[in-house]
Amino acid sequence: MQVFDPKNYQRILFFTGAGMSAESGVPTYRGKGGIWDQYDWNNYACQSAFDRDPEKVLKFHELRRKAVLECQPHAGHFAIAELEKQHPGVTVVTQNIDGMHQRAGSENVVELHGSLWRMRCPIHGTFEDIGEKYTDYACKKCGNWLRPDIIWFGDMLNPDVINSALTAIEQCELFISIGTSGVVWPAAGFPEIARNKGALCIEINPEASEMSKMYDDTIRSTAGKALPRLFQKNE
Ligand code: APR
Repeated sequence: MQVFDPKNYQRILFFTGAGMSAESGVPTYRGKGGIWDQYDWNNYACQSAFDRDPEKVLKFHELRRKAVLECQPHAGHFAIAELEKQHPGVTVVTQNIDGMHQRAGSENVVELHGSLWRMRCPIHGTFEDIGEKYTDYACKKCGNWLRPDIIWFGDMLNPDVINSALTAIEQCELFISIGTSGVVWPAAGFPEIARNKGALCIEINPEASEMSKMYDDTIRSTAGKALPRLFQKNE
């Protein structure tokens, strides 16, 4: 397997999807055992489902919280967080809402699809809410239903968050994508943007993805196995 010397790159970007957390035990969305195999997202992960039956949607997300809290970050998450401590130019852009990168110690994380650990009131904005159960289902100030601050199907991405992601992607010299099927846009277009800006693009995924052809090199291995071996240790 190819090994990289982080000193050769001023900016290194890790672009992660559900496969990043698979070895922690968090199920992926697609493929065998995927969340969308078990649950129809039309009933659990879109604004119209929430408008129809907010309690059902909130309960589904509480189940997701419980599942994530039972999992721990793995060696791959720690390898990224460790590199960030040694190298000032490391950014994580993640589609994951599980907060695993932060739990491993990563600080420079752009959460493209929001966070399972934040809630949003349509009037009073967002706030952190960490725990297996939601503190409240309705806003204490206005009584509106609180919804998880995550991007569901059909939602617009937060423009500030996209801008942060795009800036980091356009500036990076090494783009390492891990565990994403490359079917959900605009994230699916990120490898091409990085490549057009001259970054070396690497994919870590045990299986070919929709975007495999966009990469200069692919590592057919898992996040937990490949990431700890990807970088030459600084002496
Ligand atoms: N290491 C690396 N990759 C893995 C591993 C692993 N251990 N296990 C599985 N994979 C790969 C699969 O081969 C697949 O290509 O991870 C990918 C997971 O794909 P998806 O489940 O589609 O996840 P993702 O690409 O993150 O989905 C994007 O879709 O439903 C929405 O908002 C949700 O953020 C999510 C978005």
